[in-house]
Amino acid sequence: MASNDTITVTDNRTNRSVTIPIEDGTVRAMDFRKLRTDEEDFGLMLYDPAFMNTAACRSNITFIDGDRGILEYRGYPIEDLAENCTFLEVAYLILFGKLPNTAELKQWVYEITHHTMLHESMKKFMEGFRHDAHPMSMLISTVAALSSVYPDAVDVHDADNRLLQIKRLIAKMPSIAAMSYRHSLGFPYVYPDNELSYTENFMNMLWRMVEPKYAANPLLARALEVLFILHLDHEQNCGTSTARVVGSSLASPYLAVASAASALSGPLHGGANEEVIRMLDGIDSLADVPAFIDHVKAGKRKLMGFGHRVYKNYDPRASLIKKIAEQVFGVTGHNPKLDIALELERIALSDDYFISRKLYPNVDFYSGMIYQAIGFKPEMFTVLFAIPRTVGWLAQWQEMICDNEQKIARPRQIYTGGRKLKVVPIAERDKAASK
Ligand code: ACO
Repeated sequence: MASNDTITVTDNRTNRSVTIPIEDGTVRAMDFRKLRTDEEDFGLMLYDPAFMNTAACRSNITFIDGDRGILEYRGYPIEDLAENCTFLEVAYLILFGKLPNTAELKQWVYEITHHTMLHESMKKFMEGFRHDAHPMSMLISTVAALSSVYPDAVDVHDADNRLLQIKRLIAKMPSIAAMSYRHSLGFPYVYPDNELSYTENFMNMLWRMVEPKYAANPLLARALEVLFILHLDHEQNCGTSTARVVGSSLASPYLAVASAASALSGPLHGGANEEVIRMLDGIDSLADVPAFIDHVKAGKRKLMGFGHRVYKNYDPRASLIKKIAEQVFGVTGHNPKLDIALELERIALSDDYFISRKLYPNVDFYSGMIYQAIGFKPEMFTVLFAIPRTVGWLAQWQEMICDNEQKIARPRQIYTGGRKLKVVPIAERDKAASK
């Protein structure tokens, strides 16, 4: 640290100054506590609703430059990984910090493949859901229920134990997701096939009917695999921060992941992919697009799949997904929704409302159209996001557990309520209410 890497803050209430170190372009919030009006004073706090400008951890997993539209996992550009790697290869990179060699990858694939079975009690648990239960609700609940199957998972300070739970979760997510899908269709659940790749096996569990062996279309299986790679991790977003916060109490990783998936399900986060399709369904033709955009600009609704807290440029995942969409539609046939989406993007990117707010398509804008073309119902879209993101949640959870600077997460507040009130007897409150 250079000697002038500091900031001096003068508290005009007391005329006292403190000099605070700046490290990695950041100051420590706790240093501001030194600014106090007197001995009784708690000290200055930082107020940052929605964590707009607060770093809560150090991490070496994912790098994002939101202004330039750059995304890297462990230093590797997302474009390179999407072009040249399998999903489990990139999962290994995210978890272990390096790309595997052939022997390491073989062993890793073997281990994940041999943890895909679900305990039969979980099958019964899933059968108890209503026929029309949302697959995301089923996924979240079943992952949480797995904490009862693996109670030993709470030994989170044991590295081998952590790794075992990580493998189980990555392996079982597609099985749970597929079962929740089959449940919603009223079809019997399909057991995993260990001879297939991660995504092909997922497709097998989703769509196999009476044929003895399921064979996925290789182009669609690869498209799904690339989508999985693009969704693996995205640093400290809402879901991942939830995994870290819940995990910081040393709760079971199954509960941390279930909590993260709950955060992901919201329409402002991973749930946006489902909302995009519903939005596109509501626009009948290209001629209706300008009126829809006017509606958005008037603040009457949001253009779903647009905007991002961090990206103030084109989300690099959206560019890659747009290319995959063209390849998939080459197999499945043209999806007229793509024309509507392209027109929305064209008008939005040339309109001052969106330009001035730096609103660009995000990862969810085009992904739903591909999922739909592959054969998924919109209710499954966020589930498809949660499967690969489980790897990121677990890598971030593990990083948090091993970080000596971390403690139980516990933000502060500015209290705005009353003080030292006296309880009025209920009869008097009733009297006051009837007046
Ligand atoms: N459509 C129209 N206007 C928008 C949109 C949108 N999709 N997104 C942001 N804006 C506007 C806001 O109204 C605000 O305008 P104002 O300054 O006139 O009030 C301005 O742009 C800034 O937006 P904020 O809401 O302050 O941005 P924030 O960083 O809090 O929100 C978010 C980011 C939640 C992603 C937002 O852009 C949004 O709601 N997008 C639509 C939902 C979506 O696609 N979510 C998926 C995100 S990617 C992911 O989570 C996987």
